[in-house]
Amino acid sequence: MFSVGKINIDKAIMLAPMEDISDVSFRLVCRELGADVVYTEFVNSEGLVRKSEKTHKKLEIIDDERPVGIQIYGSGIESMVGAAQIAERENPDLLDINAGCWVKNVVGHGAGAGLLKDPEFMQRLVKGVVDTVSLPVTVKTRLGIDSSSIKILEVAKRMEDVGVKALTVHCRTRVMGHKGDADWSWIPKIKEVVKIPVVLNGNIMTAEDVKRAFDETGADGVMIARGAIGNPWIFKEAKELINQGFISTVIDETLMIKTCLRHLYLAINVKGERRAILEHRKFYTGYLKGLRNASQIRKALMEITEYNGVEYILLKYLDELLNYNKLAV
Ligand SMILES: Cc1cc2nc3c(=O)[nH]c(=O)nc-3n(C[C@H](O)[C@H](O)[C@H](O)COP(=O)(O)O)c2cc1C
Repeated sequence: MFSVGKINIDKAIMLAPMEDISDVSFRLVCRELGADVVYTEFVNSEGLVRKSEKTHKKLEIIDDERPVGIQIYGSGIESMVGAAQIAERENPDLLDINAGCWVKNVVGHGAGAGLLKDPEFMQRLVKGVVDTVSLPVTVKTRLGIDSSSIKILEVAKRMEDVGVKALTVHCRTRVMGHKGDADWSWIPKIKEVVKIPVVLNGNIMTAEDVKRAFDETGADGVMIARGAIGNPWIFKEAKELINQGFISTVIDETLMIKTCLRHLYLAINVKGERRAILEHRKFYTGYLKGLRNASQIRKALMEITEYNGVEYILLKYLDELLNYNKLAV
């Protein structure tokens, strides 16, 4: 059971924090399609305490997407505590600390997975945040720095000891980045040493993976990152598979194109037409995956800077696909 603050969800299926992906519009789309909890991308603590407007904008959440967590990262206790206080004012349902980012310039500053190099310091940093805010604090981390220094059992215990309310484990090491198989077998071992909810992350690409992750590990929740990009139906499909034993949602061209447009429409409401359209370009590959002549359509969409143009191209394309299907019957 994922019980954190006011959230109580059995087998929670969550959208992972993803830089430049998990913005309000994508979080809303995923919530509409069954994600139980969603997270902001990681927000730099130094940027927040320095009052960077660009960084502060990343904290923006809206009521329709609740339950939502804000994720912050950094390596200084003072700045993380300050950032946590700033994030708390946005009133998220929980505050998550990133202790898993593998990227060189984050780890190089001792943040993200860099915190795993010194679990004692990581504990003090997390304690500083937990003791400062009244929000429930969770942590997202990795197994360890590399396969010879896996410290996740010690880290889990340390996190629980200072009052962390749930732990998400990306079941890879820092040196693996996003490559190689995630080792889910650590989840039951972690659950043996702590009582707080443990969330599995890593390598969940299909609804079947979600079910298998719960069945094999007894995780309290699973968190999906890349498997949701261009494929936000994964949440709905996984729920159907778990609750009724089969998937009833049909992901056809109508659903794919309508979801793509819905996502763009929500993005425009949040960030304005031009920026939303430019940023939406990275999602076309996923949303149109496997459709006839998709590459030509994607190419045409790259030229468009207004919603009406995108809508026109996509709805005309949908018509063509449906007519083609009729003729093919
Ligand atoms: C584009 C992208 C951005 C990411 N940004 C973040 C982030 O801001 N915070 C974080 O904790 N993890 C971030 N991650 C890592 C994911 O949350 C997740 O841990 C990782 O992708 C493994 O999950 P997956 O196998 O389901 O993709 C990011 C991953 C991707 C692909």
